Amino acid sequence: MKTIVIAGGNSGIGRQAAHTLLADGNRLVILGRDPGKGEAALASFGAVAGRASFLAGDLSTHDGVRDAARRILDEHENISTLIHTTGVLTVAESRTADGLHPFFAVNYLSRYHLTQLLLPALHRAERPTVLMMTAAVAPSEEADFARFPKFPTFNFNRDRKPVQLGNHHYAAHLTRTEPGLAAGVINAGAVKTDIMRAAPWYMKAGAKVLGPIMFDSVETAAHNVVEATRSDTWQSPLYWGKPGRFEQRAPIMLDTTTTQALMDTSRALTGA
Ligand SMILES: NC(=O)c1ccc[n+]([C@@H]2O[C@H](COP(=O)([O-])OP(=O)(O)OC[C@H]3O[C@@H](n4cnc5c(N)ncnc54)[C@H](OP(=O)(O)O)[C@@H]3O)[C@@H](O)[C@H]2O)c1
Repeated sequence: MKTIVIAGGNSGIGRQAAHTLLADGNRLVILGRDPGKGEAALASFGAVAGRASFLAGDLSTHDGVRDAARRILDEHENISTLIHTTGVLTVAESRTADGLHPFFAVNYLSRYHLTQLLLPALHRAERPTVLMMTAAVAPSEEADFARFPKFPTFNFNRDRKPVQLGNHHYAAHLTRTEPGLAAGVINAGAVKTDIMRAAPWYMKAGAKVLGPIMFDSVETAAHNVVEATRSDTWQSPLYWGKPGRFEQRAPIMLDTTTTQALMDTSRALTGA
């Protein structure tokens, strides 16, 4: 029985992936902010819920990530797969207790930090795997990292790409520096979930109009997460760009100097 940790597993796409991976016979730890949603997720798992546990925590701060990692490591020595489906969609100019924009803190830095802290348990698994969900952004896309990591006066349209591509760089870094560990990035597509709750009105309005025509199902969005967890034959680091199409993937090939600079910055911020 494998132990799988899903950060963001109490909601949306992460919760759907948790449901299927539990049915496969795995042991699941799901993380999220909202304890009510955690309890509801466990209740929805039915007869197999005994193999799942929920940890409530705020992963937008360094201390929140450290606390979550400590609680996971207290209970689990060996983690096969760590899946990051945490995310916020906020364009507002706000800052976490660490002075970072929440979009950066949750959608990139929490993934780096939590993975780094769980590496000892991941390395005890036969084929440790780290999967990070983002919006559609191919590894070949250009991004300006000059404002990374502080993003003074956060501008979503300008700053989202370097945050999202940080995940690709981290997957490349893990592949290079952690022998035996497989890492990948998965596009969520467009799905009706709680992700829109903090979005501005015009995004909500667009989703309302276009959603019924354009949105994927939550099952389709979770498909590549589930298949990448089940399969141990793919070559790390990979990017899955098409929801529901596991065979359609691209190698992540990036400039190693940029990767190293982003990793140095992430280590300086978190100490991990
Ligand atoms: N749905 C889409 O169309 C879409 C599009 C592009 C990218 N994505 C990405 O796909 C992934 C899955 O999102 P989803 O659509 O399933 O949305 P969702 O239902 O809102 O799930 C997001 C998850 O992140 C957790 N989270 C947010 N902030 C957190 C924090 N500070 N600390 C701990 N957990 C936190 C949420 O926990 P709580 O619910 O307890 O707050 C929830 O479990 C995310 O990375 C998202 O950015 C989704």
